[in-house]
Amino acid sequence: MALSADGDATHGVAPHTLAALRAREERKFREQRPRAQQLHAEALQHMPHGVPLHWMSQWGTPFPIFAERAQGARLTDVDGHTYVDFCLGDSACMFGHAHPALAKTIGEAITQGASYMLPTRDAIAVSRELGRRFRVPYWQLATSATEANRFALRIARMITGRDKVLVFNGKYHGSVDETQVELRDGAMRPQHGVNPNGVDFARTTKVVEFNDLAALEAALADRDVAAVLAEPHMTNIGMVPAADGFHDGLRRLTRETGTLLIIDETHTICMGPSGGTGALGLDPDMVVLGKVLAGGIPSAVYGMSEHLGKALEHITAGPGINHYGFGGTLAANALTLRAIRTSLDEVITEASYRHMAMVAEALKKVIARRIAQFNLPWHVTRMGARVEYLYLPHRPRSGGEAARARSDDIELLSHLYFANRNVLLTPFHNMALISPFTTLDDIATYDRVFGEMLTDFTSSPSTDE
Ligand SMILES: Cc1ncc(COP(=O)(O)O)c(C=O)c1O
Repeated sequence: MALSADGDATHGVAPHTLAALRAREERKFREQRPRAQQLHAEALQHMPHGVPLHWMSQWGTPFPIFAERAQGARLTDVDGHTYVDFCLGDSACMFGHAHPALAKTIGEAITQGASYMLPTRDAIAVSRELGRRFRVPYWQLATSATEANRFALRIARMITGRDKVLVFNGKYHGSVDETQVELRDGAMRPQHGVNPNGVDFARTTKVVEFNDLAALEAALADRDVAAVLAEPHMTNIGMVPAADGFHDGLRRLTRETGTLLIIDETHTICMGPSGGTGALGLDPDMVVLGKVLAGGIPSAVYGMSEHLGKALEHITAGPGINHYGFGGTLAANALTLRAIRTSLDEVITEASYRHMAMVAEALKKVIARRIAQFNLPWHVTRMGARVEYLYLPHRPRSGGEAARARSDDIELLSHLYFANRNVLLTPFHNMALISPFTTLDDIATYDRVFGEMLTDFTSSPSTDE
């Protein structure tokens, strides 16, 4: 199958083809969703973009799909469409919507009261199990991964006495103000869209490219960085796998310079029950994990080494009301802990991952076959239960390289195209998540829609469908 003959084709797809297809697909979307359109008109009077979280307006659709309910790997909207859901709440329900074990446990637990500002037995079981999985023994809770990262950084600063955090270009660790930087022309700049945010980045932050040990070594040499905050592999700018030896180098350099290493497993928990820490044999000082822990109930955890746990006990000991800059009324509430305990016991298990990996591998093969069939300069990567393709012929080595391979035009049209055929993709990526409820039939559906879409992308579209 030939590419579009258009000489201006970017990433293998001609802009005029995209524009014509977008017009056709938007028309189709509107026609099929009268109720959502009506609700959106109403919602616009009460919320910016007509949504309770501005991200929900970023699906590439003319207005949001309004959800009614979801079960397993299926989501039904107010217009009666039922979708195969590869978004799964952008990881929050990666183990399936309304998981029966969690629905039961949460239903029972709410009748016992939700939040006491007192520990429960579940807290011990959860911390013990997290310690077994992630090899750091001391744990605390937060209500989101953003918050857990903020708290971990705050603790790293208190313990090292240093101000700075080092992050990798193209990262995302939540709305953590001092991490919102990027490299532009080799220099650190505020990330697009966050300026001003009141942070003096020169004082708080360093940023280097992932997999660049020489730049990392230079950045840590001043011994002014409290912590490196990193994912095992990068996941938020497309997938950027850690090169061989990168993590050994990262650990060696952080140790040599007295810098703490915080590993953020919020997305890489897709790799297995102990995330990238287990899969790659990492040895972090702190681990952060959010999103997936309680079947969609806000929750996150952060763990630390024995040394840090003891240092923290020492710093936070003493009478009087001391807030220390981390903590929260709703963090560690009894209901959430009960849900996390059930998740760890019955949901986020080896058996779940075996199924998820098998189905994800099938999806990766399907995508690779279609990319080859249509001769597109793209590639696909699987990371456990997470599969993503990028508009680049090979895997990127850095966030900068991955960023240059992005195309909002192609990406957003793809999401719209799939939604019109009852398949939900994660809005911010070409990424599909596989749950324990996702089937090989769902992969066949993806394959069919992907094939149709690439046929349309690579030929002159008919606009009158
Ligand atoms: C690696 C990573 N860390 C932290 C976060 C923040 O998670 P939340 O939005 O639940 O606070 C995200 C969100 O996508 C993430 O990808």
